[in-house]
Amino acid sequence: MNSLDQLASNLISQAKADFFSAADAAALENAKAKFLGKTGQITELMKGLAKLPPEERKAQGAIINAIKVQIEDLLVERRDQLSNAQMQLRLNAEAIDITLPGRGHGVGGMHPVMRTWERVEEIFRSIGFDVADGPEIESDWTNFTALNSPENHPARSMQDTFYIEGNDNSGKALLLRTHTSPMQVRYARMNSAPIKVIAPGRTYRVDSDATHSPMFHQVEGLWIAEEISFADLKGIYLNFVKVFFETDDLQVRFRPSYFPFTEPSAEIDIAFGSGPLKGRWLEVSGAGQVHPNVMRNMNFDPEKYIGFAFGSGLERLTMLRYGISDLRLFYEGDLRFLKQFS
Ligand code: DAH
Repeated sequence: MNSLDQLASNLISQAKADFFSAADAAALENAKAKFLGKTGQITELMKGLAKLPPEERKAQGAIINAIKVQIEDLLVERRDQLSNAQMQLRLNAEAIDITLPGRGHGVGGMHPVMRTWERVEEIFRSIGFDVADGPEIESDWTNFTALNSPENHPARSMQDTFYIEGNDNSGKALLLRTHTSPMQVRYARMNSAPIKVIAPGRTYRVDSDATHSPMFHQVEGLWIAEEISFADLKGIYLNFVKVFFETDDLQVRFRPSYFPFTEPSAEIDIAFGSGPLKGRWLEVSGAGQVHPNVMRNMNFDPEKYIGFAFGSGLERLTMLRYGISDLRLFYEGDLRFLKQFS
């Protein structure tokens, strides 16, 4: 073996030993510099070629190149080995135990007030009422004026609350509707008689205690025809509460009251014949005969048509149905409460 061959085999085995004992990528790069770096042994050999006579230069150059290629191959091999080992470490560390049981999806349930909402729709649909939906941001005109509460009328102040900046197209102030009654006006102006409609939805007032919430739900009812009377209103409402509360054992009474948009006006009370609330009169709705001014605002001739309306609180109905005493439970999102209804 001539001295260059000897050198070659020494260099290669040295490189191999150094590369394969490098424990990580950084150590490997250091080891590489020893052979292939600017002052590495291969580089130095290359530089030495210049001093040789041209006839030896070629042969020696070829040998040095062959050594270089082999050392580079060793380097690549070790690099791959290290990066595979690293990948294996990561895979082990991030391993997913596919035999663990899944977290599962919680089964959602319907909110008790939404259950009431759906139930009310179902019951009124079954007796031929349409179901309408309307905006929660209302114009002052539809929420108050059209319902016979003129501007600056004291009856407004009880509800005169969440105003929105800006005006509607006709320059009227905007507010979060304080009741679903404006839907009477909207619906009646878009439909002809006979009208039988309910409009359930969210409503807003500045109120907050065990029986009042700033956001709550109502369902409005409107019936316009030529030949109907209070007895018809009483009939449908009695039917409604009997089906809703799933009992025939209850009474309904109409107690005189005041609303600007009805004349005469009444509160509807019910009394159960049995159960924990037995015999107590419980208010469930406002109602009345639609005021002639309101009929005109709906584009109906009050001499020809008669209208009956009611507005009931969905929370109130829900509380009575399930025996819930504090309204705030509906809005706290406490699963221990909500789960009882799913
Ligand atoms: N809008 C009334 C309120 O929020 C409830 C009401 C009373 C609605 C009488 C009606 C009605 O349609 O005729 O207190």
